Amino acid sequence: MTHRKKAFIYSRYERFWHWAQAFLILFLALTGFEVHGSYRLFGFETAVLLHNQAAWLLIVLIVFTVFWHFTTGEWRQYLPTAHNLRAQAEYYITGIFRNAPHPTRKTRLTKLNPMQRLVYLGLKILFIPVMVVSGLLYMFYRFPQTGRSNPCGFQTWPPWPWRTPWAPISCWLLWWCMFTSSPRGIP
Ligand code: HEM
Repeated sequence: MTHRKKAFIYSRYERFWHWAQAFLILFLALTGFEVHGSYRLFGFETAVLLHNQAAWLLIVLIVFTVFWHFTTGEWRQYLPTAHNLRAQAEYYITGIFRNAPHPTRKTRLTKLNPMQRLVYLGLKILFIPVMVVSGLLYMFYRFPQTGRSNPCGFQTWPPWPWRTPWAPISCWLLWWCMFTSSPRGIP
C-alpha cells in the first residue's frame, strides 16, 4: 500500500505574505483610483488617508519579506535559469489548452518554474522598487511644500479607540507568522 503525505510547497509566512501583498495592492488600486477621481467610495480625504496607510503597511511587509528571503536563503528561488524555459513557454502558449503535462515539477526546494522565476525577479528588482520610490516621492515631494503634512494619516484615522492597537496587532501577527513558519521543513 502506498502512503501519500500531503506537503505544503509554500511555508506559512510565504502564504501570509502573498495574500497580504495581494490584498494591499488591490486595496491600493481601489483607493488610488478614487484619489484619481475615477469614482466615489470612501470620499476623497478618507481615500487619501487609507491609501497612505495601506502604502506604509505594504512597505513594512516588503522590508520584513526582504529580511525573510535573505535569512532563510529563499532568495535563491528567483535565480533565473534557461533549463526548461522553452518547454515552459510552449506549455503556456499551447500545451495548457491541450491538457499537456506540466513541464516543471514543483518541490519545496524549487518552487518556481523558469518563467515564474523571471517574472517574479522582475517584480522584485523593478516593479516593487519603482512603485515604492515613486509612491514615496508622491507622498513627500508635495506635502512638505504645502505645509499640510500628514503623510501617514495615522493621526486622524482610524478613529479612537482603534488607533492604538494597530501597530502591536500587526507586529504580533508578523512575528507569529515568522516564528510558526518553517521554511525548511514541512509545517
Ligand atoms: C508603497 C506603495 C505606494 C505608495 C507609497 C503610494 C503613494 C501614493 C500617494 C502619496 C499618492 C497621492 C495621494 C494624493 O494625491 O494625495 C498616490 C496616488 C495614487 N496611487 Fe499610490 N502608492 C503606492 C502604491 C500604489 C499602488 C500599488 C497602486 C495601484 C495598483 C496605486 C495607485 C495610485 C493611484 C491611481 C493614485 C492617484 C494618482 C492621481 O493623482 O491621479 N498606488 N499614491
